[in-house]
Amino acid sequence: MAFAHRLSDLLMSALIMSSLMAAYAANFYQDFDLTWGDHRAKIFNGGQLLSLSLDKTSGSGFQSKKEYLFGRIDMQLKLVAGNSAGTVTAYYLSSQGPTHDEIDFEFLGNLSGDPYILHTNVFTQGKGNREQQFYLWFDPTRNFHTYSIVWNPQRIIFLVDNIPIREFNNAEARGVPFPKNQPMRIYSSLWNADDWATRGGLVKTDWTKAPFTAYYRNFNANACVWSAGSSSCSSKSTNSFTDSAWQTQELDATSRRRLRWVQKYYMIYNYCTDVKRFPQGLPPECRR
Ligand SMILES: *[C@@H]1O[C@H](CO)[C@@H](O)[C@H](O)[C@H]1NC(C)=O
Repeated sequence: MAFAHRLSDLLMSALIMSSLMAAYAANFYQDFDLTWGDHRAKIFNGGQLLSLSLDKTSGSGFQSKKEYLFGRIDMQLKLVAGNSAGTVTAYYLSSQGPTHDEIDFEFLGNLSGDPYILHTNVFTQGKGNREQQFYLWFDPTRNFHTYSIVWNPQRIIFLVDNIPIREFNNAEARGVPFPKNQPMRIYSSLWNADDWATRGGLVKTDWTKAPFTAYYRNFNANACVWSAGSSSCSSKSTNSFTDSAWQTQELDATSRRRLRWVQKYYMIYNYCTDVKRFPQGLPPECRR
């Protein structure tokens, strides 16, 4: 009797545990649509894992079902391993139309053992040209790493494993549009860009290594969801990650030190220092 009692207790708590976990775990079926590349985009492990692949015929992609207006969005990615030269894995937020806003992560592949480039950009009102590029301090093909975007009315922060690599501040006071009215969807795609991606297009995709595959897991959006013209900001008050911190998030002293570390040792291009490119003067958001 006592045994049966304990067993049912155990089963009960296991049940509760697993339903709690299901509620908080990413479910790609629920949050994303596979939008191109047919069977090359796949969701598996009960919605916990997503993969995109690229072969000679086509790449593939997915997009979020929801649109967001401000939030913190986290995703773990494991990039194409081995010889990934010529491939680009894009992971970004974007609104629609000719004056769209966009916040980009793009991972440019490389020959085995040579470093990926993480390319970032911010478009506002259809205008980009705000590239910053980085090497990573780890091999992004060996394990999953977390790539995050914090987007609030004051700033956009790009983070890698919670280390800020880039900040784009609201510079409306200096006449620079800031993304704040157009809801954005999350998009990702894996495609062939061997005309420019690797060493500026010198290294071509080796199709004998196809298919090329990238993996995604642990998606989390702590964000305001846009629907039918209005925005609702869920704060997940029932779990331990209760976090509306993103709404006013800024870089504290520690984060600022980390950002400087990344920019000093890993940044390989910064439009804000490219005076040759902007002979009339650097863009206003670059001035301090
Ligand atoms: C690929 O490796 C070369 C040599 O280390 C490097 O110059 C280049 O920046 C790397 N990344 C890309 C995407 O070309």
